[in-house]
Amino acid sequence: MAGRRKSRAPAGGSVPDRPIGVFDSGVGGLTVLKALSARLPKEALLYLGDTARVPYGSKSPSTVIGYAVETGDFFADRGVKLMVVACNTTSAVALDLLRARYPVPVVGVIEPGARAAVRATRRGRIGVIGTEATIASGAYARALRDIEPDVEIFTRACPLFVPLAEEGWTDNEVARRTVALYLASLRRSGIDTLILGCTHYPLLRAVIEAYMGPDVEIVDSAQETAAEVRRLLRGKGALRARGRGSASFFVTDAAERFARLGERFYGASVGSAVRVVLRGEAAPASRRPRS
Ligand code: DGL
Repeated sequence: MAGRRKSRAPAGGSVPDRPIGVFDSGVGGLTVLKALSARLPKEALLYLGDTARVPYGSKSPSTVIGYAVETGDFFADRGVKLMVVACNTTSAVALDLLRARYPVPVVGVIEPGARAAVRATRRGRIGVIGTEATIASGAYARALRDIEPDVEIFTRACPLFVPLAEEGWTDNEVARRTVALYLASLRRSGIDTLILGCTHYPLLRAVIEAYMGPDVEIVDSAQETAAEVRRLLRGKGALRARGRGSASFFVTDAAERFARLGERFYGASVGSAVRVVLRGEAAPASRRPRS
């Protein structure tokens, strides 16, 4: 796992024409891809969902770091000009290592989300919800305090929001009860801003907003991440100036399910996804094509 990896540019490909790699544990990162597609309409976007090993949010940091390196290497091998770690859990535990490993910029979702929250807060009381691993890592709290040391931070892991979003139960009695059970203590704490620190939570935004009430500003890091990617590429003269944008999808398992669920997260048809096997991923002998 150690050592710095090179990004391989496709023969003759200038930097602006190289793709952007976006990776996530599964389908949820499509909420970030949607924001990237809107903000960067000329870019070629490659999306990899590690659907064979999702969820990451209940796994240990060392396991998630191992997965992150394999997905990062997948994109380095394809000569991307920038990587976006759309998964909050991976951003929380593996971002520094990925930044040290690849020569291209690696953008996570936590710093952009924290920046947006500090801008939004009126009384400096910020709530963060995410997977168990994201909350346990303390990454949002560190990012928030780096920007504004005086903020008060209240956190809550909401693991059941992920299966609810995947099941499409985002506006029914089960969703409303689950939101109320998880968020009761945050509502009592008097936060004025709430960060949706997980790829899936934007799908539950309406129910979360209704429960928290009009005085709580909801922050979804996808928009801010897309803005950051654009700023970074523009600063390096690496924005793609011509052509139509595109999105290609890769998964490590269950391509059909990914395409079916994906539409809800992406807001448009995903079409089809190509199944790949990552280095190190244990695969049954029946699916051996290498990435
Ligand atoms: N993508 C993950 C995140 O944003 C949620 C799903 C998972 O647990 O893998 O943290």
